[in-house]
Amino acid sequence: MPAYAVIGGQWGDEGKGKVIDYLAGDVDSVVRYAGGNNAGHTVVNEKGTFQLHLVPSGICWPDAYGIIGNGVVVDPDVLVHELTEISGRGIDTSRLYISERAHVIMPYHVVLDRYEEEARGAAAIGTTGRGIGPAYMDKTGRIGVRVGDLLDWDALVPMVTKILEHKNAIITKIYGGEALALTDVLDKCKLWAEQLKPFAQPTEQLIQDLLAQNKRVLLEGAQGTLLDIDHGSYPYVTSSSPSIGGACTGLGLNPQAISGVLGVFKAYSTRVGGGPMPSELHDGEGEAIREKAQEFGVTTGRARRIGWFDGVAGKYSQLVNGFTGLVLTRLDILDGFKSVKVCVAYEVNGERLDRFPANTGLLAQCEPVFEELPGWDEPTASVTELSQLPKNALAYVRRIEELVGCRAQIISTGPRRDETIQVEPVFV
Ligand code: IMO
Ligand code: MG
Repeated sequence: MPAYAVIGGQWGDEGKGKVIDYLAGDVDSVVRYAGGNNAGHTVVNEKGTFQLHLVPSGICWPDAYGIIGNGVVVDPDVLVHELTEISGRGIDTSRLYISERAHVIMPYHVVLDRYEEEARGAAAIGTTGRGIGPAYMDKTGRIGVRVGDLLDWDALVPMVTKILEHKNAIITKIYGGEALALTDVLDKCKLWAEQLKPFAQPTEQLIQDLLAQNKRVLLEGAQGTLLDIDHGSYPYVTSSSPSIGGACTGLGLNPQAISGVLGVFKAYSTRVGGGPMPSELHDGEGEAIREKAQEFGVTTGRARRIGWFDGVAGKYSQLVNGFTGLVLTRLDILDGFKSVKVCVAYEVNGERLDRFPANTGLLAQCEPVFEELPGWDEPTASVTELSQLPKNALAYVRRIEELVGCRAQIISTGPRRDETIQVEPVFV
């Protein structure tokens, strides 16, 4: 059976956790391919509300395997904490596997994330402070420590000794900070080796075997396309590849194995952290959406910036990912608005722009061209059939489909699994 990807179409926080959980009942395995514990995926089920940062959201289903692929960066302390917490709440965590090629977020990565952000001053990215950027920098800089390295103590000690010398020089000489003690870092590595050993696997082979056995694999995206290191609003991005290409490199999976690419979009826009967001609202309407939707970060608790749906960015996201279906989430939040707006183009220096620009300075100058659509009074909240949607809500969905250039396969009308409209089947 083939693999299906679920990818954030915007700036993250699109509701991927709910979508993965909704689909995971019909799959054999849920696999994370990028990012780390900068992600915050919320799953609501009969056991309560789960906020997962690293463990694939499919773990909440009793039969699905959870796999953390090579493209993910793993903070073992966070992983162990998360596993302890969810197993304490009745979730079976014995079906989790971690790629031995996945990179480890080391203690100095978290320290450096903070110093680097401080040094950026007014141009701060607003990172989650979890060491994500520094860990990926070391990966591409070829001085990373991988899960497999933790398991080879004799090779690890000289490796970490050398790396730490270099990191401590940066921490003390550039940032005037305090050096990390080698013994502390090695002690951590020793503990992590014991903790991670039962999970470490050649996961590319595992995924290949699952597919060969006709098992269905769901690829769980983290972050969103507009935060992609290559395709996002650089440098206000994360350091990995949340878009579809990242799913292949982040798992060792060939593109032919992927039959469906679902793009998850919120019915409006949010962004947390710095960087341009052309359709951002700075008025009471944005505040109203934030309060109603409780748009505060799962990972950092920060208030999310709010905007209307950005059709220009959506079309670009479609171009990068080739979505085969859309998932529109949080439509219910717009219930009761007199009118709703969508951004259909940008305007910059008096000229109309229909494409998402690569130049982030230019993107920051873009003013949104809004189209206003009539709102709806009847609730979409908890609706489960397309035919039950208020006429204007359906017209809004159709307009978004048109702007992005892809049909909606799922519409989410609330946080629970059953608050979902399955417009058409996802798995074919
Ligand atoms: P999920 O999976 C929203 C943002 C941060 C910051 C930028 C870089 O829940 O959609 P990083 O710590 O990755 O170096 O921060 O990326 N960011 C997210 N925003 N949802 C996420 O994940 C995010 N992960 C990172 O706020 O602007
Ligand atoms: Mg998040």
